[in-house]
Amino acid sequence: MQDQSVVSLGVADIGGVLDLERMCFRTRWTREQFLLGLERKAFRILGMYERGVLIAYAAFSVIAQEMELMNIAVHPFHRRKGLGSRLLAELLRVCQDLGVAEGFLEVRRSNAGAIDLYQKFGFIQVGTRKDYYPDNHEDALLFRLDFQCRECVRPGTSPSGKEA
Ligand SMILES: CC(C)(COP(=O)(O)OP(=O)(O)OC[C@H]1O[C@@H](n2cnc3c(N)ncnc32)[C@H](O)[C@@H]1OP(=O)(O)O)[C@@H](O)C(=O)NCCC(=O)NCCS
Repeated sequence: MQDQSVVSLGVADIGGVLDLERMCFRTRWTREQFLLGLERKAFRILGMYERGVLIAYAAFSVIAQEMELMNIAVHPFHRRKGLGSRLLAELLRVCQDLGVAEGFLEVRRSNAGAIDLYQKFGFIQVGTRKDYYPDNHEDALLFRLDFQCRECVRPGTSPSGKEA
């Protein structure tokens, strides 16, 4: 496997995903949740390895023409090097191939970095879920991506095509 190429993950990769979960999230999924989701094909996971270590992953579900981005995480040592963008770009390409029309995600109100990333890919805030996260009662912001609109929105550009 070539380092940092985006690959599809399966049950054998769950250990690496759990390690990343521990490093990146306050509320985490369990091994059983990942196992069940993958076995039942409830969601897919894409990831990136470097020297045999999983350094990024993104989990998403596709039901009918709707995608939900469940989680995306990059190892703390590897952030701000474009890995999250590459992973998200590949995920959206896979969705486009599957005929997805719209995508949704929730993000903590305080997570300015992730919000910036999503906005660069054309996600637009469409709602708020009050007190959504049980650990600190933080609000979740709900974002939506219109895949048709995505045609004119690429990372690093504004919808008008100018550099952001
Ligand atoms: C959010 C996350 C996946 C971004 O991954 P990444 O590999 O660092 O992202 P990229 O390097 O591709 O960054 C792309 C853009 O996103 C924005 N961004 C990412 N992290 C940021 C930060 N900490 N502060 C401000 N902007 C940030 C910037 O616009 C950045 O572009 P720039 O570097 O040219 O300024 C990563 O920070 C992470 O794993 N965070 C912890 C888990 C998490 O919060 N996941 C999201 C759950 S909803």
